[in-house]
Amino acid sequence: MRYDTPSLVRWNARAYDSSFGYVSAHGAPLIDLLDPQPGERILDLGCGTGVLTAEIASRGALALGIDGSPAMIEAAIAHHPGLDFIVGDGHDFTVADPYDAVFSNAALHWMNRDPDAVIECVRMALRPGGRFVAEMGGAGNCSALTAAMLTAWREHGLNEPHLPWYFPSPAEYAARLEKAGFALRIIEFFDRPTPLDECPNGAADWVRMFAGALLEGVPPATVEPLLRRVNELAAPALRRESGWMADYVRLRFAAVRH
Ligand SMILES: C[S@@+](CC[C@H](N)C(=O)[O-])C[C@H]1O[C@@H](n2cnc3c(N)ncnc32)[C@H](O)[C@@H]1O
Repeated sequence: MRYDTPSLVRWNARAYDSSFGYVSAHGAPLIDLLDPQPGERILDLGCGTGVLTAEIASRGALALGIDGSPAMIEAAIAHHPGLDFIVGDGHDFTVADPYDAVFSNAALHWMNRDPDAVIECVRMALRPGGRFVAEMGGAGNCSALTAAMLTAWREHGLNEPHLPWYFPSPAEYAARLEKAGFALRIIEFFDRPTPLDECPNGAADWVRMFAGALLEGVPPATVEPLLRRVNELAAPALRRESGWMADYVRLRFAAVRH
């Protein structure tokens, strides 16, 4: 098990829960798809602050949360005493005893270094017949947000940022799962416009939370004008009278290990 922070993001667990709690809130239908049973062993990969791990445990399952961010795991342990959480990288984890299911919400697209390695770790963590139930960003996710970022960076004379996400099409991810030895049961691909209710600065707040590491390479005096420009560019597509709306596209699936 590796104990470094694997993605570009250094997660701010408190800001995540207070302003981006919608991420976990949208996980409820995925838990229904998982359908955890009392006594089942279920691993929550990329568990964040453990909100959904706790929900799974509340249905009587024995849940373990794994996350690459020590800050997220620290918050998960503090919020959910009595549940098990460990720091680990989705590309490179092993478990002593197999699980009945691996669950993952809004995390697989962050594990962008080698998606096949992630799928193989999941397979190895499951018993034969065990299920892999997950939702992640799919192809085209946040395209208006990221187009605004790329344009704003270019206009400010900055190098094009390397966006730290993997957003596959359903066909691509299904092929990876099947090649790795999973039988696909369900795959869904849908737009999910998502209100950024707790982000008064709209796209700029979203960039700070989810692409904050990209700002570290930006001269401090440029950060504010850059983010203002991101907002100007993204507003026509994403700002409504009622507030900002992120252009999320989701890929949701359930697969079974052969
Ligand atoms: C948007 S959060 C989702 C958290 C949680 N599943 C939820 O629904 O609220 C994404 C999580 O993936 C974790 N993550 C990113 N890359 C990872 C990796 N390579 N291995 C394990 N966790 C990772 C992050 O630390 C973060 O907690």
